[in-house]
Amino acid sequence: MLAGCIGFFASGCSQSQPAKQKTMKIGVTLYDQYDTFISHLMDTFKEDVYQLSEETGETISLEVMDAAKSQSTQNDQVKMMIERGCDVICVNLVDRTEPTTITDMAEKNGVPIIFFNRELVPEDLERWDKLYYVGADAYQSGVLEGEIAAEAFLASKEMDRNGDGVLQYVSLEGEIGHQDAIVRTESSINTIMEAGIEVEKLGYAIANWNRAQAKTQFTAMWTELGDRIELLLPNNDDMALGAIDALKTLKVPREDWPVIVGIDGTSEGLEAVRAGEMIGTVYNDKEGQAGGMLNLAYAIITGGDLEAAGLKDGKYIRLPYEKITEA
Ligand code: GAL
Repeated sequence: MLAGCIGFFASGCSQSQPAKQKTMKIGVTLYDQYDTFISHLMDTFKEDVYQLSEETGETISLEVMDAAKSQSTQNDQVKMMIERGCDVICVNLVDRTEPTTITDMAEKNGVPIIFFNRELVPEDLERWDKLYYVGADAYQSGVLEGEIAAEAFLASKEMDRNGDGVLQYVSLEGEIGHQDAIVRTESSINTIMEAGIEVEKLGYAIANWNRAQAKTQFTAMWTELGDRIELLLPNNDDMALGAIDALKTLKVPREDWPVIVGIDGTSEGLEAVRAGEMIGTVYNDKEGQAGGMLNLAYAIITGGDLEAAGLKDGKYIRLPYEKITEA
C-alpha cells in the first residue's frame, strides 16, 4: 500500500532551471502507518526532508509506503523501491527476526538500508557493512518508567492502597518479540525492585501498542482485579490511554484509579500527564530519531562523514529518553 510519494524541491529552482544535482531518492517503509508514535515520527521526518531540501538546494524525493503489518508486503515494497532507484531505504521492519530477504536484496543491488525503531539482532546488522540502525535504548526507557513509579511510591503512602507495603501491579505489553516490549517490561519492574520496593504482579496482557486493544484488555483486568491494582505499567502511552479510556467508561472514581506511567510522550500522552491522569511518561525522542535518520541518509548519499552524522560503531544512532512528570 502506498502511503505517499512526495518531491521536495529547493526554493528558487524554477521549472526552466532544473536542479543541477540528480534527484536524491529516499524510500521509507513503515510496519504500520496507523501506529501513533510511528506516524508522528514520520510527520517529523517529512518536515525535516522539506527543511533539508530548502537549506541545501537539493531536490529530494521521498516515497513512503505502509507495509500494513505484513513482512512479505514490506519485502515487495523494498524490491520496488530498489527498482525505482532509491539511493537509501529506511525500513521500519515488520518482523525484526526476518530482515534477510531485505538485506540480501539491498546488498545485491548496493542500496544501503537504515533500519529504524524495530531493532534487529546485531548479527543481522553485521551481514553487510551498509546496514544501519537508528532508534533508542529500550533498557533506558524501562528504567526511567520504573524510576517515576518508584519515586511516587516512596514519596506517598496513598499509592499503597491496601497498606501492605507491597506494590501490586499489572502491565500492558506491546507486541510479543518486540525489543521495546520485552526490555521495557523487564527493566521497569527491576528498577522498582532495586529501589527496595517489594512488588506483586497481579496480571499482564498483550495489547500491541494499541489504544483500543488496551481498553479491552484493561476492562477485563479491572473487572477481575478492581482497585487491588495499585500501579499500571504499560509499554507505551497509547496503551496507558486505552486503560484510562476503560476507567472512564467503567465510571471508576478518580481516587480508585491505579497510578499510571507511560512511555513515548505523544501529544495525547502529555495531555494526560497535564490532566493528572498519568503521573508521568518517558519521552521517546521522535525529533532526534527522525533527524538522525535523515542526517545519516544524506551523508550516505553525498559520501559525507557518517560519524559526523552521529553514527557510532559504524552501525548505530541511538537517542536518549527523558523522564517527564510535568507537561
Ligand atoms: C516503540 C513505541 C511504541 C510503538 C513501537 C512500534 O518505540 O514506544 O509506541 O510505536 O515503537 O515499533
